Amino acid sequence: MNFVSKYCKIASCLSLIVLLLNCENKDSKKSDSNVSDFNQIEAKIDSIIPLLTLEEKVAMCHAQSKFSTKGVERLGIPEIWMADGPHGVRAEVSWDDWAYAGWTNDSITAFPALTCLASTFNPELANKYGFSLGEEARYRKKDIILGPGVNIYRTPMNGRNFEYMGEDPFLTSTMVVPYVKGLQSTGVAACIKHFALNNQERWRDKVDVYVSDRALHEIYLPAFKAVVTEADVWAIMGAYNKFRGQYTTHHELLTKKILKGDWEYDGVVVSDWSSAHTTDEAAYFGLDLEMGTGTDGLGLTTANHYSQYYLATPFLEKLKSGEIPESVVDEKVRRILRLMYRTNMSENRPVGRANTKAHQDVARKIATEGIVLLKNDNNFFPIEDKKELTIAVIGENATRSMTAGGGSSELKPKFEISPLQGLQERYKNATITHALGYHSGKSIYDEIVPSTYNADSLKLEAIQVAKEADIVLFVGGLTKSHLQDCEGDDRRQYKLPFGQEELLSAVKAVNKKVGFVLVTGNAVEMEWLNQVDGVIQTWYLGSMAGHAIADVISGDVNPSGKLPFSFPKKLEDNAAMSFGETSYPGVDMKQEYKEDILVGYRWHDTKNIESQYAFGYGMSYTYFKFDNVSVDKESYIKDEKIKISCQVSNTGNREGAEVVQIYIGKSDSKVKRALKELKGFSKVNLEQGKSETIEVSIDVNKLAFYDESISDWNLEKGDYNIYVGNASNNIFETLKINIK
Ligand code: BGC
Repeated sequence: MNFVSKYCKIASCLSLIVLLLNCENKDSKKSDSNVSDFNQIEAKIDSIIPLLTLEEKVAMCHAQSKFSTKGVERLGIPEIWMADGPHGVRAEVSWDDWAYAGWTNDSITAFPALTCLASTFNPELANKYGFSLGEEARYRKKDIILGPGVNIYRTPMNGRNFEYMGEDPFLTSTMVVPYVKGLQSTGVAACIKHFALNNQERWRDKVDVYVSDRALHEIYLPAFKAVVTEADVWAIMGAYNKFRGQYTTHHELLTKKILKGDWEYDGVVVSDWSSAHTTDEAAYFGLDLEMGTGTDGLGLTTANHYSQYYLATPFLEKLKSGEIPESVVDEKVRRILRLMYRTNMSENRPVGRANTKAHQDVARKIATEGIVLLKNDNNFFPIEDKKELTIAVIGENATRSMTAGGGSSELKPKFEISPLQGLQERYKNATITHALGYHSGKSIYDEIVPSTYNADSLKLEAIQVAKEADIVLFVGGLTKSHLQDCEGDDRRQYKLPFGQEELLSAVKAVNKKVGFVLVTGNAVEMEWLNQVDGVIQTWYLGSMAGHAIADVISGDVNPSGKLPFSFPKKLEDNAAMSFGETSYPGVDMKQEYKEDILVGYRWHDTKNIESQYAFGYGMSYTYFKFDNVSVDKESYIKDEKIKISCQVSNTGNREGAEVVQIYIGKSDSKVKRALKELKGFSKVNLEQGKSETIEVSIDVNKLAFYDESISDWNLEKGDYNIYVGNASNNIFETLKINIK
């Protein structure tokens, strides 16, 4: 069936549902923000469920196409339409396979990758991101956006790190909650993913993860818990991998007990595409909606169709025979209808819009705030636009599209400003020259097609261009291709690929002034660091990439981004990698997270292993001074708030923003602890010469550790250290408090 007729069907369904439901809904608000609204919706669902046949109920629990589920036409219950996620609304995909449908009206705004959003340390921007994306999703008639992803950055090898928000559970939680609230305020459900422990792409569909309960609760679950309990997220996607021998998409502990039991999650659990594995587990352990294509495990064939899904005919048969009680399907249908009342059956759904100036401004603002200035010797940046200056822009990433590739987060933006274009448009007086320098080839799905360019000629050309310029901007890093920053598999090397280091040395030999524009979603080895005067980490910035990069390089915007994960000097300095294969990527499809709770900077700090660039680090073009750091009391009890304040002054010569970061640690703990953990932060923007006192409030209960002996959080009494700094490795004041 083609999409046009499908949409006609949806339209007729929608009018039917309005007719059917309007009689009882006339003056009720559909928002479930208060109990009475929620109860009204539940009452409606109570009245609908008995009207449905068993076949209709089961049909609602699995896909009817690659990205949609069946409604119940005779009752006017609409279909549900989904799209990836999470950096913009993905182009339309064919009904039955992964090919793009070739529409001409599905191009959108590409927002920066989530690593960039995390680097802003600005929750307000996360809210604007979610809201703008939601409006674009509404415009494209989507009910669920498949994202954002909140899996923790455990190793720089993970091909999908660029889609997540870094290595710290507090930062991830703080950023994802406003994102989801913003998105859902447009009447589109967020589908937080991938629940849980999908921290690598290599063998993602089979690897069996073993991790302690403590690390599970302290590191890997907090962001999921925050979106459930603080943002009321309406959908959650299961992951492909196993945990302790059982697939996570229908997991007795994760999905049934923790998510739906302990956290009282009332939304829908959606499978990842073909991540369901048995009918019984799907039925009983919490999966509500099965998505994918084919039933061959990886979802690559279209031969075995949707009716063969675990939650399709096999489920129906077990329900009919009484082997599975009808209450099991009713519970799933209830959740699905609840999601519909929040989205496509809500009367108060705002309208959608796409590619607006407002969305582009949000994308640009996030991109500029997320760029991290890592190195700036001799004030290499900012670079003034003046007549007698020639800037050589060298490197493939100056012109390569970074919204194409990467896997399911790939986008079809209406436009994408490349770094070269952004610089050319900004620098009106200086001369900008360009050479490709190297070429990475192409990847088609999981195959790499080598470059057809002659590498020597590219290098010679770049050397010539560099020689004739006053300064060089080397725009390199990774790509969004297979084995780079890309879904489906992991990186195989920590070093920069495609001969970039050699090229950089050759360029440096002819031009002393080189700055690196590092376009990646991941940490890379930086043995080349002494070859360059300046480095900016730009991530993948979406539609407005080139403008944002030019904003920062020119100094129109003062950089204020902070790293959301550590850049280890050597790969073995990373916690997961230091334990060898058992820990990453696993042996015989089994994997043990041996570093336990010591992920990222927790490992570097506690083991005293210096990173190249630390979590929370990022420079500015101005200077800040920190005074009067204080805490409101010396001792606290459970449920109280610790209030830390600090005066921040901008002592440099331009406006800028700084992030004050509060870490807390306990030295004489009875259990293993990280030296310190991020528990609060505050970003402040100050004009030149101005000061402001910031206050950060931290709930004492957040200092508890997960105590495996009682399977609960335990707030240890005694002394704690409060570390106040502007990076995890730059603490300017340590205060002591006591918990009674
Ligand atoms: C990815 C999901 C994505 C889904 C649909 C899966 O392969 O893991 O994140 O939402 O495909 O494209």
